[in-house]
Amino acid sequence: MIAAPKPTRVDAQPPGAPAIQVQGLVKTYRSQREGTVRALEEIDFTVADGEFICIVGPSGCGKSTLLKILAGIVPHSVGTVLVRGKAPRDADNRLGLVFQAPVLLPWRTVLQNTLLPAQVLGLDRAASQARAHELLRMVGLEQFAASYPSELSGGMQQRCSITRALLHDPSILLMDEPFGALDAMTRDTMNLELQRIWRESGKTIFLITHSIPEAVFLADRVLVMSPRPGRIIEEIRIDLPRPRDLDTMSEPVFAEAVRHIRRLFGIGAQDRPHVD
Ligand SMILES: Nc1ncnc2c1ncn2[C@@H]1O[C@H](COP(=O)(O)OP(=O)(O)O)[C@@H](O)[C@H]1O
Ligand SMILES: [Mg+2]
Repeated sequence: MIAAPKPTRVDAQPPGAPAIQVQGLVKTYRSQREGTVRALEEIDFTVADGEFICIVGPSGCGKSTLLKILAGIVPHSVGTVLVRGKAPRDADNRLGLVFQAPVLLPWRTVLQNTLLPAQVLGLDRAASQARAHELLRMVGLEQFAASYPSELSGGMQQRCSITRALLHDPSILLMDEPFGALDAMTRDTMNLELQRIWRESGKTIFLITHSIPEAVFLADRVLVMSPRPGRIIEEIRIDLPRPRDLDTMSEPVFAEAVRHIRRLFGIGAQDRPHVD
């Protein structure tokens, strides 16, 4: 009898395979008010395993739509979207998600909200508890572990949503303007913490931000989007050494990258001579 061939594992990844592959992505929404809305137009990009990618683009250009497609929450209309070589919905355990709004469960404490993925994924209780406390310490929420979301500021709620996203140690983190609600100092701290987590864990991070300096500070590559329908108009590699610290922001390479992206959006260009 001939032995049946060994089944190939569908989740097996060749080394160096991209974490995210997007090709020819188009997203159209049907809305009662506006009819058909073309939100994303011919998006192509690849994110390498372990890469830190930031997305910047004007409000309404489809950034959140793109993230929700990668997370498998919203279906795309045309094109190919692969997360670790699979359709986004099949890759869920490996993802950590942070949305623009914290979306915490109001009847659960900070600790219980952080532990949500452990419950959903059936992870070991004691190990998850220890990790939750460690994460809460990291974001400065340890004293608020027993508080309810309504007792926290917006920034503190968002920090809790970040601990929740990290609890199950996902290999890919998708973050939608995670620090938008934080004050400037907390934001600097969170940027440094996120860089540290990324460097220590080798995670792939895909982060949307409104802040051009934040994108340049964090990213290996910044993807710049056009107004709706969103397209990627430029990819900028940020060749600043790691680890970056707050002094990085006074380096010429940093300032030049920020200025370049601002010009793409027409910010600060009006006081310069027009060049064709
Ligand atoms: N569920 C939806 N139904 C219809 N239109 C939507 C829906 N979600 C988003 N849009 C539209 O798609 C465009 C992109 O939205 P979004 O992805 O939220 O942009 P961004 O995050 O860049 O601000 C906007 O014009 C928005 O109004
Ligand atoms: Mg958005």
